[in-house]
Amino acid sequence: MPPRWASNKKILLGISGGIAAYKTPELVRAWIKSGAEVEIIMTEMGARLVSPLALSTLSKRRAWRDEDLMSDERGWRIPHITLSDWADVLVVAPCTANVLRMAATGDSSTLLGAAMLACDAPQIFFPAMNSHMWANEATRANVHILEKRGHTVIDPDSGPLACGYEGKGRLPSTEAILDETWRSLRGDHDFKGKKVLVTAGPTHEYIDPARFLSNPSTGKMGYAIAAEARYRGADVALVSGPVSLRAPSGVRRISVTTASEMYEACLAETPDSDFIIKAAAVGDYRAKEYSPRKRKRGEAASITLDLEQNEDIASSIGRMKSPGQVLVGFAAETENTRENALDKMEKKHLDMIVANDVTKEGAGFASDTNSVEIHFAGEFGFPYRSISGDKWEVASEILDAAVSLRNR
Ligand SMILES: Cc1cc2nc3c(=O)[nH]c(=O)nc-3n(C[C@H](O)[C@H](O)[C@H](O)COP(=O)(O)O)c2cc1C
Repeated sequence: MPPRWASNKKILLGISGGIAAYKTPELVRAWIKSGAEVEIIMTEMGARLVSPLALSTLSKRRAWRDEDLMSDERGWRIPHITLSDWADVLVVAPCTANVLRMAATGDSSTLLGAAMLACDAPQIFFPAMNSHMWANEATRANVHILEKRGHTVIDPDSGPLACGYEGKGRLPSTEAILDETWRSLRGDHDFKGKKVLVTAGPTHEYIDPARFLSNPSTGKMGYAIAAEARYRGADVALVSGPVSLRAPSGVRRISVTTASEMYEACLAETPDSDFIIKAAAVGDYRAKEYSPRKRKRGEAASITLDLEQNEDIASSIGRMKSPGQVLVGFAAETENTRENALDKMEKKHLDMIVANDVTKEGAGFASDTNSVEIHFAGEFGFPYRSISGDKWEVASEILDAAVSLRNR
């Protein structure tokens, strides 16, 4: 699910003649599904590698071609200017070595070249090419020029290439392109230069090699916070328990399994973090004795598990944090939500707590929506804010609250 503010954004997509052009219909579809509007300019080589008809069907607009540069069909409305003025962002994906050169040198001999030169909106380039072409000094120099001008050039992914080589040159995934687009469109990068540590997901406490104790957390809330913080310009570390979610692009994920591993990872990251947001559902207990062999059914009619407490991550960070660091906890409660949350905030020296009643419909585990109260320490139990909405909206409010706390 994309952030709500992504809808109605105007994306101008340049498709050039890289083999990865065949992936662009999926990209256009994903943007359209997010509520964005998409205009497409194809180079002639691009139009040979992917069908303009498929693209115009998906975008529900025409796919502009070089012949339109000199078309008098729209009279005084010149395509390269109207499209550039219309766009909130210009994305070139895939971007050939040739289009990188055109952008760097201001070559406006094609519709895409002219649009790149005319466009004042942020521009993001996704180069994709043979790894030698990418490593070539000429390409490096063009990338350098574009970055110096303030454009964003995203490094290609590494892996097997269509040309038979193995190396750097692949077009990043559709999701990664979406993430970079949202980051660019988010605009106000109020977390720029800030380090944000987010924890997310459940922990697994193994009792034997085949069984563990856990909880229903899916990590959606923490991942939404990590993505939103990244869109807002933060340098994000995401300490994640086992979940099936993709790490947002540009977020450094540290994968852990047990509460002890999460504790170690968080303590290592804390000294460098400006904001620590603990959205993970950490197991309170682990088996006192781990059985290295699978316990067999039938060995006993009943078994008793002896459990011991895990380290309390929030309390440990609460004790070690330095002035200026903002520590945010979550309280997933089933009764007396506000009282329990305030009590937790005080005991663990949190600066802010996000309280939710996980028994409420549309709140808590596995849901795409949440309903929470945000409380600040020392504010007599009055919520700073109560929010119900999708996890993106809640994530955004949590970050707003955390920033306001730091700026006090
Ligand atoms: C099948 C095929 C695949 C190609 N893939 C790439 C590619 O991935 N990246 C690239 O920079 N050039 C690639 N090229 C070379 C470009 O198509 C060529 O440089 C062309 O002039 C680029 O035109 P354009 O930049 O106007 O789209 C490929 C060529 C062919 C024939």
